[in-house]
Amino acid sequence: MKGTHLILPSARVSSLARLNRLLKTKAYAHAKYFIFVDENSYNYCLSEVVARVEALQEAEFVELPIGEECKSIEIAAQVWQTLMESGADRNSVIVNIGGGAVCDLGGFVASTFMRGIRHINIPTTLLAMVDAAVGGKTAIDLAGVKNVVGTFHLPAAVCVEPLFLDTLPEIEKMSGTVEMLKTMLVGGAVESIPAGWQDLLTAENIRTCVEIKDAVVRQDVNDHGMRKILNFGHTFGHAVEAYSAMQGNGLPHGYAIGVGMLCATYLSVKKLGLEKSLFNALSGYVSSLFILPEYTLKDAETMLSIMRHDKKNGDGEVRCVLLQSVGAAVIDVAVSEMEIRDALLAYAKSL
Ligand code: GLY
Repeated sequence: MKGTHLILPSARVSSLARLNRLLKTKAYAHAKYFIFVDENSYNYCLSEVVARVEALQEAEFVELPIGEECKSIEIAAQVWQTLMESGADRNSVIVNIGGGAVCDLGGFVASTFMRGIRHINIPTTLLAMVDAAVGGKTAIDLAGVKNVVGTFHLPAAVCVEPLFLDTLPEIEKMSGTVEMLKTMLVGGAVESIPAGWQDLLTAENIRTCVEIKDAVVRQDVNDHGMRKILNFGHTFGHAVEAYSAMQGNGLPHGYAIGVGMLCATYLSVKKLGLEKSLFNALSGYVSSLFILPEYTLKDAETMLSIMRHDKKNGDGEVRCVLLQSVGAAVIDVAVSEMEIRDALLAYAKSL
């Protein structure tokens, strides 16, 4: 499989300088570039990219609405139209500069325009650097359902420039470290869970996370098997995220996934014999970021009904990724409704 050209943080040459070099190679000769940005990446990151990557100095810009709002069929249609009117062809390249939403929409447009053109992701949020920008999942939302229409279309290149971390609010970085920890746990790349998020947020760890994700994706691009390990904590986490939004106090994605990882780790101890010390260390880490919500039986029932409708549960049964040990994730573990209630009620206490 032709994979993605990864440009990852290195102490020697900046990532944007290496992207500059890549775009001077034969593979990109005569390419016409379209840069997709949102207001944030336009304000805080675009000038840096254009200043350092010569090939992008003549690019056309497409400005997208901020966040999930850009992931609609209406926006996709407007962008297809813009590309057509601007003379985009099969040699054109879409360059997504932004967070997960820009990468999802831009990747979707790239995968469908003229039956698929190349795209390059330059993620500007931590979550996008370690997750959304890598692995070729593209998507738009439909009728309020997130990511329900999409494709698998690997980016031609991903350029992770740690400079952009300085443009982010602290809470976004803290939240993003939870996804990093997820990848490092399933990828076997963490010996002990650090006490503080600053210890986790290093260029080397970002590099490790992207490499783990890329290696997993190469084995299962279409998400039929082992790629599911990257959903560790997400079955619970998506329900927690949706429930917190319903209650009007939406948790940042990474925090919701943190709660989800604790629930999944709790069940891993109960069902697969995972060491309790890992649960306790993870609990210490996540609760150093924010106050863990404690749930009542009524809360748990609502989250259970959200989980029953999760598109990932193919046959009506709730299935989770659990951990036997660090680096040994087990996919598709059926969990009963009783176990789900138990985890949601007990996850915030130590074991
Ligand atoms: N975010 C999980 C995946 O890309 O498979």
